[in-house]
Amino acid sequence: MFLSSANSSAVDFEQNTERISLGKRLVPSRPFIKWAGGKRRLLEQYSPFLPSPTQFNYYFEPFLGGGALFFHLRPVKAFLADLNADLINCYRVVRDSPEELIEVLSKHKTSEQYFYRIRELIPENLTPLQRASRFIYLNKTCYNGLYRVNKQGQFNVPYGKYKKPLICDSEVIRTASESLKEIHLSVSSFEKTVEKAQKRDFIYLDPPYVPLSPTASFTSYTSSNFTEQDQAKLAQLVRTLDKKGCLVMLSNSDTKLVRTLYQDFSIITVNCPRSINSNPFARGNVTELLIRNY
Ligand SMILES: C[S@@+](CC[C@H](N)C(=O)[O-])C[C@H]1O[C@@H](n2cnc3c(N)ncnc32)[C@H](O)[C@@H]1O
Repeated sequence: MFLSSANSSAVDFEQNTERISLGKRLVPSRPFIKWAGGKRRLLEQYSPFLPSPTQFNYYFEPFLGGGALFFHLRPVKAFLADLNADLINCYRVVRDSPEELIEVLSKHKTSEQYFYRIRELIPENLTPLQRASRFIYLNKTCYNGLYRVNKQGQFNVPYGKYKKPLICDSEVIRTASESLKEIHLSVSSFEKTVEKAQKRDFIYLDPPYVPLSPTASFTSYTSSNFTEQDQAKLAQLVRTLDKKGCLVMLSNSDTKLVRTLYQDFSIITVNCPRSINSNPFARGNVTELLIRNY
């Protein structure tokens, strides 16, 4: 069911109330990691366009990253996923063992030598708790909080040289843990994650962006890049979810390709202060797109 204007509604919220069982958790929470493309700074602009918790059943976030929108909405029923296994392991440990994680995190040191020793460790050889502790440590002390891996999947961001990085923010970990209780987490590709989505579920898609120029891309969250073909596959998936009666919202760059792929949906522009760019002269405000089927 495609939109003909921005004011149309893909689903009539007043009917079918029997599937609406969502509440919102009371404790405010926020991301426990920094993440490239994180949406924290855009939440205020997104707010007027979000469905209220009573308007949807399950929440799906297949490109989770730092999960800024999830922590803002704090839904009680959700499926969260990402292709990054290290990241999802970290979410599971935050959900299930926050106190143990706080304890090991508080033992880390901040020196360049120590950083490279931790970076060298192979995540697959560690326990889930050690792996999560390494992940958060590197995230808080590496250059710009970036997550970038080489073709072999090895983390390769250099030391960030922060004077006093806050490695263990106990309160943020505890409140994030509260928000994640009973939430499904999986390492999977976006197509697989949304297979379970049904009518009246809310799906927020925040894929690696279509680059503004051939040299401006930052899509190395995983060892394989997100291609133009993936973008087209995603747009097709949005049409399928729309036909199912799901509420779909998607963020992407303000590019011709994105505007073409989603021309049948409601598209608005939001202002985005950018910081992930190796060229400081290219930093500054750019517009991004927020796309909805409702
Ligand atoms: C733009 S970031 C999401 C940022 C997030 N919304 C936030 O607020 O921090 C995109 C995420 O998609 C993940 N990703 C890349 N390719 C993927 C795929 N094929 N399926 C699922 N996740 C993928 C990356 O690991 C990355 O975490």
